[in-house]
Parts: sequence; structure tokens; C-alpha cells
Amino acid sequence: ARLPELLARMPKAELHIHIEGSLEPELMFKMARRNGVSLPYASVDELRRAYDFSNLQSFLDIYYAGASVLLHEQDFYDVAWAYLQRAQADNVLRAELFFDPQTHTARGVAMETVIGGLHRACEDARTQLGVDAALILCFLRHLSEDDAFETLEAALPYRDQFIGVGLDSSEVGHPPEKFARVFARCRELGLHLVAHAGEEGPPAYVWSALDVLKVERIDHGVQSAKDPALMKRLAQDGIALTVCPLSNLKLCVFPKLAEHNIRTLLDAGLKVTINSDDPAYFGGYVNTNFLQTFEATGLTATHAWQLARNSFEASFMDAAGKARCL
Ligand code: ADE
Ligand code: ZN
Repeated sequence: ARLPELLARMPKAELHIHIEGSLEPELMFKMARRNGVSLPYASVDELRRAYDFSNLQSFLDIYYAGASVLLHEQDFYDVAWAYLQRAQADNVLRAELFFDPQTHTARGVAMETVIGGLHRACEDARTQLGVDAALILCFLRHLSEDDAFETLEAALPYRDQFIGVGLDSSEVGHPPEKFARVFARCRELGLHLVAHAGEEGPPAYVWSALDVLKVERIDHGVQSAKDPALMKRLAQDGIALTVCPLSNLKLCVFPKLAEHNIRTLLDAGLKVTINSDDPAYFGGYVNTNFLQTFEATGLTATHAWQLARNSFEASFMDAAGKARCL
């Protein structure tokens, strides 16, 4: 079969998707209208024209503004359900969804509303779409560790509705060690641990995500290629990198997709996966990320199978779930 068909049809897991980043402009405007929230853009077209980013922060400013339309349990359900339908269409068998509760609780939305709506969509995805979906709560690293502790406390009544915690938002200036104590507590609670590191930040942030936070996967991690000792560590310990090529392109981490270092990472034996990050903002869902990356970098069918296998191995499914997919 041709490579594009293989990429589209092969079963895969998506491990790096921010559910707030899957909010398409059309749904955003619909929610703004029904919730009486005003957006600083007159139309869907005007909003889309604002999606011209120069770095991570220029994106985050617009992303947090967009998330302000999410108010009610049904809103959280609707954005997750829309994503999960797209995931099914891309032959995603397993999706691990990041969510940013502090973005919502800071506006007066209850934790129960956020987790309740997202979790209900995940349950319906299992029964109605055949997509196995789970939630990962992310702490915003531009806020304090005390704020993260309060967020964890507020989420613990719903402990059975999320499988782990992550760390996202503005990376440079907010190193992983800022969150050492709250990650230690999450580890005691038996939560899975991941963190964004080495997206724009230096290899030192990847080292501290591993050695201080003790994360099981690194989100992005593309800056690791600058440090040969780190590359060796990641390979030896089988630490997965959840790479997001179109995100890296749109946020100017690499000037062109053809210059993305995914091939270097794969050739070094790292457990690389391909993911969409914030598909509504970066120009495509997971299959578009696969297609455009393969086209630009010349990856082959062998790489495709490796990436798909990596995605299941690096997932937080139990052994029986992995065996079903692999
Ligand atoms: N939040 C949503 N997308 C993100 C990204 N790519 N990096 C950090 N924080 C994020
Ligand atoms: Zn991300």
C-alpha cells in the first residue's frame, strides 16, 4: 500500500493532545454565543488569521483566551467529544488527553464541572466510538507550586477519573524543579507522571524532569538532541518523547518541517511518538502530523510501524490493553 494510506489507516495512540487546544473556532464561537462570553475577534475568519505564532508564549496568550468560552459541564463534554470523533477517524485506539484545570477554576468554574464533562466524553468514546480515552491533569508552570497543590487537592475527589499529571504552559524560566514537591506527592498517590520539557527550554530541563520529577515520558523533548549524554540516557531508559511536529513548526521551534530533528531522534533509538498537541491551532490532527512529517522528512514505512508501536508501548494502558493494540 502507499505510504499515506498506511499512515492514515494504521492503528495508533495519541499521547500529547491538550483538549483545550482541540477547540475549533466554529465551536468556540458557538459556545461564546450560547454562554454570553465575548471574544476579542469579530469572526471565525478573523480568529483564524490571529493564528500566526512566533513562539510558545504568543500561542498561549490566544489559547487561554479561547478557553474562556468553556463554562458548563456540557461545554467540556462537547469539546472532548468533538476531538474523540476526530481521533476515531484517524484510527486512534487510545488517547491520553491533557487538560488544564487552573485555566478554568481561575474563572470560577468548578473542578467537578471540568472533570465531569471530560470524563463523560471519555466514557462515551469507549462505548460508542471504540476509542479508549483517559485524562491527564496538567499543572500550569507559570503559576506557583502552591497553586498546583491547591489544584491537586481540588481534583482528588475525582481521583478515579484521571490517570496522571503533567506540566505545561510557559517553559523557559519555569524549570521542572519548581514543582518537585507536588510531583513527589502525585507519585505517592500512584499517579502517572509526565512533563513538557525541551520544547523551547534547554536539555537541563529534560534532565530535571527525569531526575527531580521522575516523569515516565517527556512531552516534546526535541531540544534533547543538543546533549549527547541526555540522548544516551533517554535511549537506555526507554523514555518516550511525545513529539508534535506541526506544533514545533507553528511555534517556530524549527524553521521548516524538513528541518525537524525527528529522524535524528529515531535513529538514536529513542522511543519517539507523533502527536498533535493543539490541533485546532496548529493545522492538523494526528494523521495530518504523520502525513506532513513523512512527506517533509522522508521517513519510511519502517518508521511508521515503529512510531505506531512506540505509541502503544509508551501509553499508560495496562498490559492487557497494550496486548490488544500491539
Ligand atoms: N499548552 C498547550 N500547548 C502547549 C505546548 N505546546 N507547550 C506548553 N504548554 C502548552
Ligand atoms: Zn503540549
